[in-house]
Amino acid sequence: MSEHDTTERTDATTEKLVELAKRRGYFFQSSGAYGGVGGFYTFGPQGAALKGNVEDAWRDRFAVAEGNMEIDAPTIMPEPVFEASGHLEGFDDMLVECPDCGESHRADHVVEDNTEYEDAESLPIPEVEEVIAEYELVCPNCGAGLAGQAVEAFNLMFDTNIGPGESQPGYLRPETAQGIFVEFPRLKEYARNQLPFGVTQIGRAYRNEISPRRSIIRVREFTQAELEYFVDPEEDEPDLESVADVEVTLYPADEQNAEDGSEIAITIGEAVEEGIIANEWVAYFLGVAKPWYESVGVDMDRFRFRQHLSGERAHYAADCWDAESEIDGNWIELAGFAYRSDYDLSKHEEHSDDRFTIFKQYDQPKTVERATVDPDMSYLGPEFGGDAQAVVSELEALAARDRSAFEGETVEIELEGETHEIPAEKTGFSVEEQTEAGEHITPHVVEPSFGVGRLVYTVLHHAYREDEVDGEERTYLALEPEVAPTFVGVFPLQSDDELVDVAQEIVDDLREAGLSVTYDDSGNIGRRYRRQDEVGTPFCVTVDFETIEEREAQRASEDASGDEPRAEETTVTVRERDTTEQKRLPVDDLAETLAAIREGDLTFDDV
Ligand code: GAP
Repeated sequence: MSEHDTTERTDATTEKLVELAKRRGYFFQSSGAYGGVGGFYTFGPQGAALKGNVEDAWRDRFAVAEGNMEIDAPTIMPEPVFEASGHLEGFDDMLVECPDCGESHRADHVVEDNTEYEDAESLPIPEVEEVIAEYELVCPNCGAGLAGQAVEAFNLMFDTNIGPGESQPGYLRPETAQGIFVEFPRLKEYARNQLPFGVTQIGRAYRNEISPRRSIIRVREFTQAELEYFVDPEEDEPDLESVADVEVTLYPADEQNAEDGSEIAITIGEAVEEGIIANEWVAYFLGVAKPWYESVGVDMDRFRFRQHLSGERAHYAADCWDAESEIDGNWIELAGFAYRSDYDLSKHEEHSDDRFTIFKQYDQPKTVERATVDPDMSYLGPEFGGDAQAVVSELEALAARDRSAFEGETVEIELEGETHEIPAEKTGFSVEEQTEAGEHITPHVVEPSFGVGRLVYTVLHHAYREDEVDGEERTYLALEPEVAPTFVGVFPLQSDDELVDVAQEIVDDLREAGLSVTYDDSGNIGRRYRRQDEVGTPFCVTVDFETIEEREAQRASEDASGDEPRAEETTVTVRERDTTEQKRLPVDDLAETLAAIREGDLTFDDV
């Protein structure tokens, strides 16, 4: 699979983050009551909200802003889909089992973690077995020697049966992409048969990973956000100008292979001009993705695009770059940007009864010569019996492919490995002029494929901070306001009825403005701030006695003058998470001000 982990290290931040994630409801291992099972995680209330916000941000950028369609397909698909897609045949990882403890491991990871090999995935199985023997590699679990153990290809798809019995095998999809490809014949109609067009899907994918590890980084059930962009390779071009100035850090295959190779800082425009990114569509989507990753909170000093090495590419990919983030010195793959050419649509056309092509109209009708056959069935029937129709198909294909084959006395065809000679006059071969309005072409596909869980993990990791406030140690998550699970915490200073009433009114106002709000009246105010800091809530609003006094003063002025109370004179304390700076802001404008900050139209400094 397209995984590329450098040697694994976990440092204190990861341990603290995983502990925080569990304690505060970001994510935790599922089915804990039954001992838990490797590779399955539940996103808790904070995690589900963060993940939902990241998905919304992805949808806004990659579906809405790009004018693409979104679909939602089933996660179980019948076997022929995966026969066609190549997953049944080639979606394997290398498995080695420990002879002592019986634990299964990814053989390529055992090699990469313990030798100088960096890309063991691209080695053939016998070579991996040799390396294991040569280096006397041992089981990471119990230390028993693995030399001599067979390394096997293990298919990662989860299988099931559709309906009772075993007559219709099915699989849980290993990528959301196939749900889009198989519906192409209908989707092209929705796109009015016009290329280019894109279809997105955010949904679950399943892989029976041999050794799931590093919390939610490699799991067996995860969410992908994928875009399949269908293009005419001859005519369509991306809007490269719009991303030409985007600065990126690239790690091309050449640099990875060179002894002193390194990452390069370059703009997308320059990378295309210099041929570093060969495919313009891939370059375009890298240019769209980089600022988007930044907007959701990935630290750009810990982010790069790495080109796949030739042995590492998936079976369908002609070229591929990964978006990678750095976590504790390891690079993890966040997304793949693959040029899948016409691989998928051609395969589904071959294996199904539907058409996975698009009719491309010429500007002017063209007159073309077509070679056709009209075989004499009174000859083919008695001569070939039940195979006569197959002979006709062979003759048709041969006429389209090689007219010169019909120039002699006899025409040779191959049928099930046997050569047959047919008299040329019995084939009815002729070349005719035809006027054609267009042709059927198989679109090519460029695919940005994002893993949502890994992004959530990166966003949390890159946001993790420790500092000291008023002599006390503090942990906080500097999450971007756009994705933070809760945007504002509202507290009455004490559980005094008046304070509580005003705080509840503010909660209602803020929720009405579409903000995600939490109300907290337990513990001292410092503790409440720490709780919100730790889950990454960007703002806290405190209702205190000054608020009540201001309100009473207004009421008194209203009684005296008969005027409406001047609400802007009632204020609350608003505290910003990262700086802990506090400002008194009028209650009346609070929802509007905070909503503008959430939308990025205003900063706390400007208020
Ligand atoms: N349709 C292309 C495709 O599925 P991929 O590189 O195999 O490509 C895309 O997967 C993304 O899905 C990866 O970049 C990664 O973020 C995520 N992903 C893949 N396997 C995963 C796993 N076992 N656990 C969590 N995320 C995974």
